Amino acid sequence: MRKAGQIVARVLQELEARVRPGITTAELDRVAEELTLKMGAVPAFKGYEVAGRVYPAALCISINEEVVHGIPSRSRRLEEGDIVGLDFGVCYQGVYGDAAVTVAVGRPDEESKRLMDVARAALWAGIQEARAGNRVGDISAAIQETVEAAGFSVVRQFVGHGIGERLHEDPQVPNFGRRDRGERLVEGMALAIEPMVNAGTWEVDVLQDGWTAVTRDRRRSAHFEHSILVTANGAEVLTQL
Ligand code: CO
Repeated sequence: MRKAGQIVARVLQELEARVRPGITTAELDRVAEELTLKMGAVPAFKGYEVAGRVYPAALCISINEEVVHGIPSRSRRLEEGDIVGLDFGVCYQGVYGDAAVTVAVGRPDEESKRLMDVARAALWAGIQEARAGNRVGDISAAIQETVEAAGFSVVRQFVGHGIGERLHEDPQVPNFGRRDRGERLVEGMALAIEPMVNAGTWEVDVLQDGWTAVTRDRRRSAHFEHSILVTANGAEVLTQL
């Protein structure tokens, strides 16, 4: 899983470097897939089935009011001022890694900058709580408190998850909840922690394509994710270079 995590991190680094006005989201998808295969891994999302629907690409790219699961397209070009969620996972020798970042195209407006900063801080607040002896609810509460103290909202419809020999395993890791509740964390557990933070309402809708989740009020959203390992001395972040 360390190796899988490093491959995910390397791909996201490459994608971030290519984010600029004019590039299509399909081009980023192709870069992600080719680099992954070159490193001996397989994209985890392509062909992944949720409720009978098959995800058609290697990468999820979610722009502005899109929350998660945006599908790359040859006709969608990034524009100056957009904020772009890049969510990517791989399978390497039978185990998974999963991570996401949100980056700005050029200079973001003030609110978008703050939204990204708060979502990133919420992820790290959750990671700080991911140690043996704590419970899932400690992670959830830390994330929710960070986000709501900043006046933003956390998405309820999608959650973080266990990860390992499958992309999604138990336990679910919600981005809202109460301390001292939920499953106990033990050494050796691996979790994907992934706050989705909305500028306005927490409610989301799924578009006609069956995948793209957007904010109901069409205000912006930011998403950060790391896969982590619970150790005796806290979380080891697997998807960080
Ligand atoms: Co995930």
